[in-house]
Amino acid sequence: MKSSSIQQQLERASAILYSISCNARLDSEVLLAHCLGKPRSYLMTWPERELDDQQLACFNELIRRRLQPQPVAYLVGQREFYSMDFNTTPDTLVPRPETEMLVDFCLEKIDAIESPELLELGTGTGAIALALKQHAPECRIIANDVSPATLAVAESNARRHRLKVEFQLSDWYRQVPDQLFDIIVSNPPYIAADDPYLRQGDLPAEPQQALCSGESGLEALEIIIAQAPDFLKPVGWIVLEHGYDQQQAVQQRLQQAGFTDIQTHRDFNDLPRMTVARRGE
Ligand SMILES: C[S@@+](CC[C@H](N)C(=O)[O-])C[C@H]1O[C@@H](n2cnc3c(N)ncnc32)[C@H](O)[C@@H]1O
Repeated sequence: MKSSSIQQQLERASAILYSISCNARLDSEVLLAHCLGKPRSYLMTWPERELDDQQLACFNELIRRRLQPQPVAYLVGQREFYSMDFNTTPDTLVPRPETEMLVDFCLEKIDAIESPELLELGTGTGAIALALKQHAPECRIIANDVSPATLAVAESNARRHRLKVEFQLSDWYRQVPDQLFDIIVSNPPYIAADDPYLRQGDLPAEPQQALCSGESGLEALEIIIAQAPDFLKPVGWIVLEHGYDQQQAVQQRLQQAGFTDIQTHRDFNDLPRMTVARRGE
């Protein structure tokens, strides 16, 4: 097999990327498929096919940038979330698979509500809001973010999927219309500013505004929880993603704000990552 065959190039790239990624093979496949303008399945079907000079140059350049390291989602310009592809740029957090559990929970609740209205705080690529709209078209959704550049990406994703979500520039609740919602959902920044984890892996390449929240990591969650009762209908739900070690702090703040039925759910790594609660009557 020649050294510029798909299989040889994937083996070479996986060995190189192994130093920075525990998904070196997958990263290599996604990057090569992008350079070829083909789905990943093409690589498995045609392992002996030769790359031309342009394809090889494209692949080498992406491997170089991946080693910096830049996230694969930024290099190929998109990431899959809830079986939908979302435009993803360095202005947005890369949507994570564990966040899909927030969508699952909201959809379950929306199903039982007549004319549901939902607010998402800190929408990023718009992944949560748009996945919800795709599966619950009857739901009115307002989604906001404090970053105009981030919001532009969310709007591009709404156009891409032909979905109507009302995107707004807002500092948490500041610009939210004076109305009550059935559900408030948020995956806010929740890492402490001095957490060494921020210097690991791909995180330095992602917007710090999307990751960090003050010295404790809890500042955004505290604001979101404290003001939520003013924006929720009497039996409305709040649905929050948080760090694996923040379950107790989040539950405590929800209790202080008068929430009931507080439950924390575990993600697929068996870590407590989502807490939900209901506004009292
Ligand atoms: C962890 S990211 C989540 C993005 C997206 N919802 C997701 O789950 O992939 C947090 C988002 O909150 C936004 N954000 C940070 N501070 C904010 C604020 N004061 N008001 C509104 N959004 C804010 C960030 O710009 C970022 O897009």
